[in-house]
Amino acid sequence: MNQKEQINLSAVPKHIAIIMDGNGRWAKQQGENRIYGHYEGVNSVRSVVEGAGEVGVKYLTLYAFSTENWNRPKEEVDALMELLVSTISMETAELHKKNVRLMAIGNLDSLPKSCLEELNESIKLTENNTGLTLVLALSYSAKWEIIHAVKQIATKVKNNELSVEDISELELEKHLCTHSIPEPELMIRTSGEHRISNFLLWQLAYSEFYFTEILWPDFRKIDLFTAILNYQNRERRFGKTSEQLL
Ligand code: FPP
Repeated sequence: MNQKEQINLSAVPKHIAIIMDGNGRWAKQQGENRIYGHYEGVNSVRSVVEGAGEVGVKYLTLYAFSTENWNRPKEEVDALMELLVSTISMETAELHKKNVRLMAIGNLDSLPKSCLEELNESIKLTENNTGLTLVLALSYSAKWEIIHAVKQIATKVKNNELSVEDISELELEKHLCTHSIPEPELMIRTSGEHRISNFLLWQLAYSEFYFTEILWPDFRKIDLFTAILNYQNRERRFGKTSEQLL
């Protein structure tokens, strides 16, 4: 049986989040510049989106550009933005055909105008699709997101719309970018790095983590299936004992 056939389709994670890492190192191994790695990374995105749809994942969040990535050399930032615009514009028709709904989270106002326009157009076109929801984290960092939420809550308190006693997990979640999305059951990071890097800090509280040495441009849907199988062989306890789960 191949990887995909071994997956229990009734226990597939509803939401998978991925830190796509290793593009630069992959490019260096090929004797190319870092930007070449990002371009190749788009093939991995395509394959993984397809694979996620095939096994019934409902939400796939990809960490495409972090707040910290703005500090990379200007040439690389510009190339990444250009790549985002061209990828979104080229892939939207296919995503739409596959019933994929596109969403974005992060400080989107900080994106170049062309990028934001392309993004909003695709989001609008696909907003009623009912298959996989593809969430792009762009200019995203979890600390930014939490501070943003806290500021909104503080404003509500100041305006007497909310009392301090009513500040709860649920209230905070309402103000996160992911308020309409379930928490990820599985987080994957490629390229052998074992860090969370300011990604979905709140939402990953109970997620299973899966790390692989594979560099992002080499990652394909079969590797996603391997990660899902690995997840299905784990026991999720949410702080309880094994016996309590019986
Ligand atoms: C991390 O590798 C990757 C990124 C910062 C960019 C990810 C972007 C893409 C895969 C392309 C566009 C994606 C979409 C959704 C259209 P790195 O550069 O940190 O690699 P390194 O750790 O080897 O240097």
